[in-house]
Amino acid sequence: TDESVPVDTLLASPLHPAAVPGLPLPVALYGFDGTSGRRNPQGADLAVTAERAVYEQAVDAAVVESVPEAPVGGIAATMTRLHGGFTAWNATPLADRAAVLRRAADALEQRQPEFCGLLVREAHKTLGDCISEVREAIDFCRYYADQAEATLASRALPGPTGESNTLHLHGRGVFVCISPWNFPLAIFAGQVVAALVAGNTVAAKPAEQTPAVAARFVALLHEAGVPADALVLQHGEGHTVGAALVAHPLVAGVCFTGSTAVAKAINRALAAKDGPIVPLIAETGGINAMVVDSTALPEQVVDAVVQSAFRSAGQRCSALRLLCVHEGIADGVIEMIAGALQELSVGDPSQLSTDVGPVIDAEAHANIAREVTRLEGSARVIGRAPVGLDVTGHVIAPVAFEVAKVSDLSAEIFGPVLHVVRWSGDADAVIREVNQLGYGLTLGLQTRIDSRALRLAAEARIGNVYVNRNMIGAVVGVQPFGGEGLSGTGPKAGGPHYLFRFCAEQTVTINT
Ligand code: NAD
Ligand code: ALA
Repeated sequence: TDESVPVDTLLASPLHPAAVPGLPLPVALYGFDGTSGRRNPQGADLAVTAERAVYEQAVDAAVVESVPEAPVGGIAATMTRLHGGFTAWNATPLADRAAVLRRAADALEQRQPEFCGLLVREAHKTLGDCISEVREAIDFCRYYADQAEATLASRALPGPTGESNTLHLHGRGVFVCISPWNFPLAIFAGQVVAALVAGNTVAAKPAEQTPAVAARFVALLHEAGVPADALVLQHGEGHTVGAALVAHPLVAGVCFTGSTAVAKAINRALAAKDGPIVPLIAETGGINAMVVDSTALPEQVVDAVVQSAFRSAGQRCSALRLLCVHEGIADGVIEMIAGALQELSVGDPSQLSTDVGPVIDAEAHANIAREVTRLEGSARVIGRAPVGLDVTGHVIAPVAFEVAKVSDLSAEIFGPVLHVVRWSGDADAVIREVNQLGYGLTLGLQTRIDSRALRLAAEARIGNVYVNRNMIGAVVGVQPFGGEGLSGTGPKAGGPHYLFRFCAEQTVTINT
């Protein structure tokens, strides 16, 4: 390392919330008893067999009920109802709205195995991923409850004698929340509870692939005290129901997470509408890179690469797509990646021992398989995970390709497909090339030169930078998450500025 301050000292967030008075305890980080410890993404604390059996039984018992698609004609009634419910919900004291979120978190914590079982069955995510996801949803509820009380209360501002000035924040009206299938509970929940606690009423449109888990969470919120006319679930296809919700005249704001193409379509649709200017919060995809210099620790790099590129079958917006490794260590790292791929357990998502499960559906499988076939014709295969003959479902074998240059990857492939490119010379030039891709969601840096890590992070126009670790699994309140450029508008989910964008502000000045 060089003479500068160690990266750990500068970049590490305080790891125990006890060190940060007022921060809620994220269960994704510490477990429910506050002691489980970090780096527990696969539910490793469930090694205790009794608890593990509860989860496995919940997967067996889970039933994915079919849900009726909302007719487009029903949207007007939904929006009118939510518009009518706004005044009362917005006038509900902040503490009461926050209390509803905390009750929802407690209920979700109680029903964790049930929700995990449903997630495995409906989204085909691995049980380990589902445990992490339910914990993230609980964290969103508690964090936004705490943030709302801490930051959204009316505050007096300084002014001249004889005048009082007060800043009030309140809900905007009816928010449309549109979410993707890859975090069908955590992202759905995060959007909805943020909009609600800020005082909005919510039309919630989950992804068409994962309606059942959304329906169960909405029922839980209603049981926790969200009034029926403050939250309405609107199932359906994006291009019909989603588009009709966005186009409705009573929409006061849209919160969207999904692909960049759909975010742009929604932005255009909102811009074309008559009436008020409607704000859009959009969190989208990325072409996420990890830049590895010649001082990096190869074992640490390979562990981070495997987690980041292949966990969740690569179906994370944060996932690593492009590994840029210095020529000096490239052969060794590439060989180790090939070896690590051989060790992955691919297949049944209901087993805690499974590393990589299937992708979401036949359409995704066909799209990813087409890209893999294209790459097989143009790039060198570094390695591929073995898939047993008995494995069923829409499984794509995790695979790594060596390509010539950063710009060989121009679109997000939403699956377990890694591109590897060698570089020599200047790490700053690699960051410039990554910036030129136009996305800005996650970046991994692997180096033992502390000043270089900090400089590259500062040069990157990228929302979440991870140094010497994996680059997935942002923890609520600890790693506020979200990108820039083609990757989204901000603000960061699970961060201290998120709720403000769901609010309207009013300054009241009184001549006393
Ligand atoms: P998608 O854009 O196809 O769909 C997302 C949601 O938008 C769904 O509910 C869908 O029904 C709806 N939708 C589709 N067309 C619409 C339209 N014209 N009007 C209104 N709504 C419409 O995305 P997806 O396939 O569900 O999810 C995968 C994508 O999401 C990837 O690109 C991934 O990177 C991104 N993603 C981003 C984040 C993040 O936080 N940045 C998180 C997860 C996923
Ligand atoms: N928030 C999710 C992650 O960081 C998408 O992986």
